[in-house]
Amino acid sequence: MASELTVDLAKLETIFAQYGDQTGVLIPVLQAAQAEYGYLPSAVLSAIAERLAVPLSQVYGVVTFYSQFYLNPRGRHVIRCCDGTACHVRGTPKIVEALENHLGIRAGETTDDMAYTLEVVYCLGSCALAPVVVVDGTVMGGVTPERMLKVIASLDGADGAGAGA
Ligand code: FES
Repeated sequence: MASELTVDLAKLETIFAQYGDQTGVLIPVLQAAQAEYGYLPSAVLSAIAERLAVPLSQVYGVVTFYSQFYLNPRGRHVIRCCDGTACHVRGTPKIVEALENHLGIRAGETTDDMAYTLEVVYCLGSCALAPVVVVDGTVMGGVTPERMLKVIASLDGADGAGAGA
């Protein structure tokens, strides 16, 4: 699993300047910081807590409550497999297993080369298309393990490099 990378905190200054001394801006500041860094490193959370004069425990409370926030670096490609009931009975476990074996990671992890993050989510609201996988924000329905491995091969080709084990 990928570890936290070196963080340039200077990038936060633009975000702080945008929100000035307003109160109640924790969530928009966190969203802007995540857009800047791709995730929310611990050093960034500490800097935000200090600047906004909010307890660090409260910042972590918000970040861990909302699924939109990420505490770990994410891959260039994010694959989200739905394992809600409809998708589960139509084959998600085999899709996840195929992706885990191919990428050499477990669901919830990112490959060491930062190419892929694999996630399992629960009902994306497109049950009629089950099993559903979202690849870089694009919803794919009726997915099979074989189709997913072709998608990975195509993304590898687009990146100009292979990934995973
Ligand atoms: S269960 Fe997968 S979209 Fe609803």
